[in-house]
Amino acid sequence: MSWSVLSTWKMSLEGCRIAAQQLAKGATAADALVAGIENVEDNPKFCSVGFGGLPARDGHVYLDGGFMDGDTLRFGAVGSIEGFRSPIRIARSLSAYKFNNFLVGQGAEAYAKAHGFEARDNRTSKSQARWEAEKDHAQDLVSYDGHDTVCFLTRDDAGTSCAGVSTSGLFLKEPGRVGDSPVIGSGFYADSEIGSAAATGVGEEIMKGALSHTAVLYMKAGFTAQQAAERAVLELDAALTRRNGSCNAISLIAMDRDGKFGVGTNIVFPFVYASDTQEPTLYLAQRDGMRTVYEAVTDIDSVVQD
Ligand code: GLY
Repeated sequence: MSWSVLSTWKMSLEGCRIAAQQLAKGATAADALVAGIENVEDNPKFCSVGFGGLPARDGHVYLDGGFMDGDTLRFGAVGSIEGFRSPIRIARSLSAYKFNNFLVGQGAEAYAKAHGFEARDNRTSKSQARWEAEKDHAQDLVSYDGHDTVCFLTRDDAGTSCAGVSTSGLFLKEPGRVGDSPVIGSGFYADSEIGSAAATGVGEEIMKGALSHTAVLYMKAGFTAQQAAERAVLELDAALTRRNGSCNAISLIAMDRDGKFGVGTNIVFPFVYASDTQEPTLYLAQRDGMRTVYEAVTDIDSVVQD
């Protein structure tokens, strides 16, 4: 058997390395995934996830996270949670229960407190300065500005696939707004018998296509991970453009049950892949008609990530 990790954006490069090291030592897909995402959540340099995440309109940082185990199809998710270190860790813990798998707001915070999850004020001087500078100009912002979800798909030696995501959501979102990320089927989906997928971009568009589940269904129907990812994204882009005149930025990573990866995007989109036969590699994907093409990045510093 073999292992692999696929993750979104340049900010996941170090986390992918950590997850890969763990998988190489025999860690489970779930443990490696949480370690990879937590590395991004803890780094205040990255402004769209965890510590230093993008504030909502009221200046508070509300976080979303989701997790799915592809063996059992169990999932856990938190939406609009404030004051805790790691949404992915909390989301994973919720996947152990039969009911109450998706908690939001005060309910999610009460659960995290009762179960001893680490508290943290995720506001930083940088995130607060950005909020101060922009808070009166929300209507001028392109909704996607600076907003990137970290998504990880992992497959371990035993053939288990997991999907996980973590984000602060749209900059200057309405308090209480929850995007696609913690919504199973939209932000993430994993089935070890088929494959897994996770999405990043504007949640209001991604949810219209239940994008991650759509990609997994395409793999179930026999498409490769690459075909499934680009079909899911670019068919939704086409449908929304035809009906509404445009489609905001959407991207998706997919991995089949053997660990082969695919990517679909309607923007320029960096992602990272590692496996038992490949060192963590940063790629840049972009749209080419109804296809998505990608190539490995040779000069990593040329890819900007804030
Ligand atoms: N994709 C994350 C969000 O829209 O909140």
